[in-house]
Amino acid sequence: MNVTVFGIGYVGLVQAAVLADVGHNVCCVDVDQKKIDDLKNGIIPIFEPGLTDLVVDNFKKERLQFTTDAQTGVDHGELQFIAVGTPPDEDGSADLSYVLSVAGKIASIMDSPKIIINKSTVPVGTADRVRSHISDILSMRGLDISYDVVSNPEFLKEGSALEDCMRPERIIIGTDSEDAEFLMRELYEPFSRNRDKVMIMDVRSAEFTKYAANCMLATKISFMNEMANLAERLGVDIEEVRKGIGSDSRIGYHFIYPGCGYGGSCFPKDVQALERSAREIGYDAKILKAVEEVNHSQKEVLFHHVKSFYNGKSLAGKTFAVWGLAFKPNTDDMRQASSRVLLEALWQEGAKVQAYDPEAMEEAQRIYGIRDDMVLMGTKEAALHNADGLIIVTEWKSFRVPDFEKMLEELKDKVIFDGRNLYDPKRVEAHGLSYYGIGRGRSI
Ligand code: UGA
Repeated sequence: MNVTVFGIGYVGLVQAAVLADVGHNVCCVDVDQKKIDDLKNGIIPIFEPGLTDLVVDNFKKERLQFTTDAQTGVDHGELQFIAVGTPPDEDGSADLSYVLSVAGKIASIMDSPKIIINKSTVPVGTADRVRSHISDILSMRGLDISYDVVSNPEFLKEGSALEDCMRPERIIIGTDSEDAEFLMRELYEPFSRNRDKVMIMDVRSAEFTKYAANCMLATKISFMNEMANLAERLGVDIEEVRKGIGSDSRIGYHFIYPGCGYGGSCFPKDVQALERSAREIGYDAKILKAVEEVNHSQKEVLFHHVKSFYNGKSLAGKTFAVWGLAFKPNTDDMRQASSRVLLEALWQEGAKVQAYDPEAMEEAQRIYGIRDDMVLMGTKEAALHNADGLIIVTEWKSFRVPDFEKMLEELKDKVIFDGRNLYDPKRVEAHGLSYYGIGRGRSI
């Protein structure tokens, strides 16, 4: 099938590459000329395992093309995906201006029937707004061309985006049109071979499903973080509790890892946007507000642990090794990352950091520039050199098996603050190091 994807960010690029890989002809349109030129030269703007090979391979096979020309894109596809960003506006609501602008562009160019598919995360009712926007433009042009607006939210995770997209657990399609349903089923047929993954529902329910899924996951995390904070004060090890409750199949093991807070471009934004949507319709979404509030304070927990270890004294003159800057492993993304709250709090106190992250150091440099109190180190071991203590923020695989003897040698205050509970406290302490995780049964 001929497919066009507007907006070549995370979601758009991954979706385009995966659709091309199963044999569809995909035209990618973005307003950013440099991004398009880079993509043609095999330079991928994001770090995502496997993506470069997939894009380069399908580009060579001419199943993927890149352009800034909207006309080319609109002419190409019977299916037109909108995958542009919906960043929060000043009050946290989703800003729909990019979505509406792409819809308007499609309407002002199209001269044959189209299915317009919204992949971006958008509040309930957006498809209706897109539909009437297109209808206004077509009637201004004096044209009566048939079109459908479909909601098809994306559930991929950064770091495992290809796998999530190639082997989705479900494909949600919101439409009330049989023609659109037929074409969407055909598009996704290669992904539904083993079992039918497609779930058809009305458009508003599909839009809401995306928010409800992300808010449920964020709620699980904030709930566990609250349990961890209680555990810390009650002499309970939250890691034992996690295993204990996860074994109940009604609860499950997924997304109940306590830590130093959730980040990224999705959970913080989506919880906030749904809470604002609720407010707009006069509903007080108390759970969503609490999820956000707990996460906000959870991002400060590591800093509080450090402060308490030093009995509340100033941290001026101290140097900390920081392992992990990305908001989670396998990405270079630092949007809403817990590391940022920690770094900024340490700097505020006059402390220095020696940071290491396998992928996100360029991003840290881009965000913070060159500064005396942030030295980016080439390896995790180098970050320990002459530091007072180690703070772990992201659970990269390479941090899981550290050399505790080296830590003992290098860290002046012989202390580890672990924001992701990577180690067994007893094992670490057996090496002569002090260890503070999240909710490991001991307040400091
Ligand atoms: C999230 C959802 O998981 C995807 O299904 C969704 O498609 C995506 O948002 C989106 O809306 O585009 P993502 O933001 O890439 O994906 O990352 P996650 O793997 O969900 O992790 C989010 C944050 O939660 C990370 O900071 C992670 O460290 C934290 N987390 C996750 C925990 O603190 N504990 C857990 O048990 C799991």
